[in-house]
Amino acid sequence: MSLKHKLASKVVLLTQKVLLKETQMKEQVNKVFNQAQKTFSCTEKSFEKKLQKLIRLMNKTTAKDLNLNESIMDNEFWEQPNKAPVTYISLYEDDLITMGVFVLKDGMKLPLHDHPEMHGLIKVLTGKIKVKSFSIEEDPEFLYCKPPPIVLTAQKQPDILADSTSDVCVLRPKSKNIHEIESVDGPAAFFDILSPPYETPMRDTLRRCNYFEITAKVHRDSYKLTEIEPPVWFWNDCIKYLGPAIKFEHDFSVFQRVLSQFRNVWKIFSGRCQSS
Ligand SMILES: [Fe+2]
Repeated sequence: MSLKHKLASKVVLLTQKVLLKETQMKEQVNKVFNQAQKTFSCTEKSFEKKLQKLIRLMNKTTAKDLNLNESIMDNEFWEQPNKAPVTYISLYEDDLITMGVFVLKDGMKLPLHDHPEMHGLIKVLTGKIKVKSFSIEEDPEFLYCKPPPIVLTAQKQPDILADSTSDVCVLRPKSKNIHEIESVDGPAAFFDILSPPYETPMRDTLRRCNYFEITAKVHRDSYKLTEIEPPVWFWNDCIKYLGPAIKFEHDFSVFQRVLSQFRNVWKIFSGRCQSS
């Protein structure tokens, strides 16, 4: 094959890659992923506007967009030997965000847990969940500096029942930061984005997921919550994500390679270079 033909076929291949990349960027999950990256890396000034855009995108996201395996709703899936009551599907993780899907067996719950100085977004993909949440009354800055166990007072928020038609549930460092999520009337799956992720640095320690129990009622909707060991009935396994590949939209490397190949072909056709 002549150099001309070799270069021409390379251009075709790379053009196909660019077209594939464009298609990937139109995929809902990549729109959400790229907006999450923009939202959680932006300045405080533009954060709320970007967060609202992310929420609108997540509201439109369905199980189909993530190519969620429909068998997770079947009894056979949950009746496999040694099957965990919770399954996690990891989509993406870096120092900025964690993106994944939690699948809960019928009647199972994620125990009451916190998200230290984190934001979280939950979109139900299939089934129905009940979210019980609390807003921490103390300043989280001082709360996590104390020696364990963590004891705090928190304001109970109204329970939320959510299904695939519901809007995203949002938690923030000072609002609805502690929650328990339970599947209702069958298995349920929800799309979850957290920022920053657990196990990232927080002051002089790592951001941990702490579990709690209600130990007293302080007044009206205010409760004392005390840190406990992770409940033994709660454990999870993982299955592979089968949806579209997660891609950054600002990756120009393929495009630059196409341009460079076009330049080479142009040189050959314009006689500036000898073909072999
Ligand atoms: Fe959570």
